[in-house]
Amino acid sequence: MSSSDTPSVSAGFSLNASDYDKAVRYNIHGAKRLIDAMPGPSYANMLDVGCGTGFSTMAFVNRFGTAEITGVDAADGMLDQFRTKLAEQPGLEVTLHAADVLAMPVPDNHFDAVICSMAFHWFPKKAEAAVAMARPLKPGGDMAIMCSGRGAEHEFRQILTEIYPPVPQWIGTFDLVQRDIDEMEVYLEDAGLEILDIWMERRIRRVPVEEYLTRMRVVASHLNAGYTDEQLADLDAKITAATNKAAGPRGFEYTFTKLYAIARKPD
Ligand SMILES: C[S@@+](CC[C@H](N)C(=O)[O-])C[C@H]1O[C@@H](n2cnc3c(N)ncnc32)[C@H](O)[C@@H]1O
Repeated sequence: MSSSDTPSVSAGFSLNASDYDKAVRYNIHGAKRLIDAMPGPSYANMLDVGCGTGFSTMAFVNRFGTAEITGVDAADGMLDQFRTKLAEQPGLEVTLHAADVLAMPVPDNHFDAVICSMAFHWFPKKAEAAVAMARPLKPGGDMAIMCSGRGAEHEFRQILTEIYPPVPQWIGTFDLVQRDIDEMEVYLEDAGLEILDIWMERRIRRVPVEEYLTRMRVVASHLNAGYTDEQLADLDAKITAATNKAAGPRGFEYTFTKLYAIARKPD
């Protein structure tokens, strides 16, 4: 792995891989909206970067009927979940690689489509990652990205800010992962792509506190590195109490902002 931050992110996803699909039901709908926004009309082959358990891959396959698929993910545990699903998809020709986005063992200018769904925000070097994802895209091919947008979950950030003692590595993550439209435009254009469509989706959700915290435990457990079990139990109790306090009668209300982009590699 070429990125120093990747092992802990991927280890966190591997650890919770079997709970992932259940915990992120909103991402499944988002993946479908991302794929629906791709111009098509068809793509002979596709690369899914940060493919995880493969539900975005399957949204793509369901829309375009593409049979030649390559998936790359740094977390073996997520790829194992994907392999299990593939047993029920006999018609597909799927190649999976456990690799970092910056070291993908895939050919240049080869794929008609490259997708990256809810993984880009975890890449520590975003400009380099955009270049690495553009490299295997064929001239004339399309890239589709969905990732966390600026402002997402500021309500939870506020809760973390008020926890004592402070949890700087958790609070700092918001700025590391979240991006706005103008920032994504720069990444994609510097990677030599032409943007076809780019937009931010802002939703307000109300969910039971336990559902909210379960999702955070699944998608952000790598942030626990460095804490003892005792410290984590203490933090978990404080965060649970503060989230319960912030919740209203209809549950914990939070903002979820997703950034979407569709771009093309010029011929
Ligand atoms: C939130 S999941 C998204 C999975 C899938 N694309 C989906 O739509 O559900 C993020 C995935 O990105 C992977 N990932 C994080 N950092 C990575 C990196 N630097 N290189 C490759 N994969 C990475 C994680 O292992 C995880 O499976």
